[in-house]
Amino acid sequence: MLIPIITVDGPGGAGKGAICKRLSEHLGWHLLDSGMLYRLLALSAINHHVETDNEPALKVMASALDIKFQSIAGQDGIRAWLEGEDVTDALRSEDVGLAASKVAQLPAARSALLARQRAFVELPGLVADGRDMGTVVFIEAPLKIYLTASVEERANRRYKQLLDKGQSDTLPRLVEAIKARDESDMNRAVAPLKPAPDALTIDSTLMTIDEVCQQVLDEAAKRGLF
Ligand code: DC
Repeated sequence: MLIPIITVDGPGGAGKGAICKRLSEHLGWHLLDSGMLYRLLALSAINHHVETDNEPALKVMASALDIKFQSIAGQDGIRAWLEGEDVTDALRSEDVGLAASKVAQLPAARSALLARQRAFVELPGLVADGRDMGTVVFIEAPLKIYLTASVEERANRRYKQLLDKGQSDTLPRLVEAIKARDESDMNRAVAPLKPAPDALTIDSTLMTIDEVCQQVLDEAAKRGLF
């Protein structure tokens, strides 16, 4: 039986995490947060003192990563364990994010993570969140979403998230950081961030999470995915 997959790609801060979590709960499908895999690889590199440009070592590390995921109802996102330790909070740090964007540039590390990502495809279905879900990892997916939002809106969302965590930054600095991350994700040599030719683009700048989810669910229903 063909297992249905919805891929959701797009730049950081577009709301992919919240949308994918909501969709997977609503549908009762599995959830892959592929950015978390890159962050886990980056954290493992930091812990084991491996440079983020040491491609051969990172390839071996990516194939052997000892990781576990668990989705906890009522909580945003997924919890992750690395070598038996709950590292969910550490994964969200700026240092790990920066290191993740570096290891994500290495073709050998990316291909070593392919099989792990594809192993998430299980009945009754999968919602896959990332940058290259529809263009590389699940090119056969019957519904591909490219979720975007303006840089200013994404910076605003990040600003509010930081305030909620008791941290702060200035909006202009966040705008610059988001532009820099977009630039590196969209212009890298391997699996650059771009919409799949058959993707449906949704601009979430002026939309609520509910509205975006509803549009995706309507589209999934139209295509007979559930
Ligand atoms: O979505 P995120 O911020 O957790 O992703 C962390 C880094 O991993 C980000 O720089 C982009 C990269 N990434 C990727 O290259 N491919 C994916 N499918 C997911 C994330």
